[in-house]
Amino acid sequence: MARERKRWMTGRMDGPADGQMMENWLRGSILALLGGGHGGVVPVTHKWFHLSYEKRGGHWAVITTAGSDTSSSTMEWAMAELLKNRVQLAKACDELVHVVGSKGRIEESEIVRLPYLQAVVKETLRLHPPAPLILRRAKMEMQIRGYTIPKGAKILINVWAMGRDKHIWPEPDKFMPERFLDRTIDFRGGDLELIPFGAGRRICPGMPLAIRMVHVVLASLLMHFKWRLPDEVEQNGIDMTERFGLTLVKAIPLSALVTPT
Ligand code: HEM
Repeated sequence: MARERKRWMTGRMDGPADGQMMENWLRGSILALLGGGHGGVVPVTHKWFHLSYEKRGGHWAVITTAGSDTSSSTMEWAMAELLKNRVQLAKACDELVHVVGSKGRIEESEIVRLPYLQAVVKETLRLHPPAPLILRRAKMEMQIRGYTIPKGAKILINVWAMGRDKHIWPEPDKFMPERFLDRTIDFRGGDLELIPFGAGRRICPGMPLAIRMVHVVLASLLMHFKWRLPDEVEQNGIDMTERFGLTLVKAIPLSALVTPT
């Protein structure tokens, strides 16, 4: 598994990353964490892989840094935007009532039937990409708009600025999930104007997991709780200032009052 991952990371594997392989790798990471100190042998889709303590440490670091902050900050931003934009909040809740109904528990398979919720997640990632800068290195010398980019130069792709470019997005600073309802644009790396997970061979390997996790958790939060803001925040508005650390997070954590429905 580690060899497969290394081959993929060093770009020695042809074609796009294989989704199943990535899923296996992630499942292996999670199982490795659960594997504890008992020899580190974990089953990954009917095969057994040996994981040393070092590798388990590496997987742990990946899940805690690349995996958890990014997803939790996306959910926090989504809730902040929805609480700031009550019409959109009502639309997302109505869709959930309509699709999931009174059974009260969302299944992963139902995400495809929730276009508005999907649009909310896309709009959140457009405005608040957890990884705002993507690092690349120029493979060859090239010319872009009269500038010479030397071979080997480090390039920072500003995903945050792309998401707020008025030439791509009308009213870029507005939270409008509706903009995605009549467009097929997606964030899986095929549409370069929206690449919160990166693109190409180095695209985020946790993307399939993150997409499911963010939709399911967000849907559950909306279905199981009534949300409102503390009086003071209601009067002064939610502070949407961003803080750039390992990931781009809310500078002031969201404060909200919830009651179970
Ligand atoms: C909303 C959630 C997430 C976002 C927006 C996100 C975004 C990104 C981005 C932009 C990159 C750089 C990709 C590139 O260079 O083209 C990346 C890399 C990575 N992500 Fe994620 N990520 C998320 C969740 C996760 C999760 C849940 C995991 C694992 C459990 C994960 C694991 C990784 C790893 C291991 C890398 C490094 C890949 C490499 O260097 O080749 N990410 N992520």
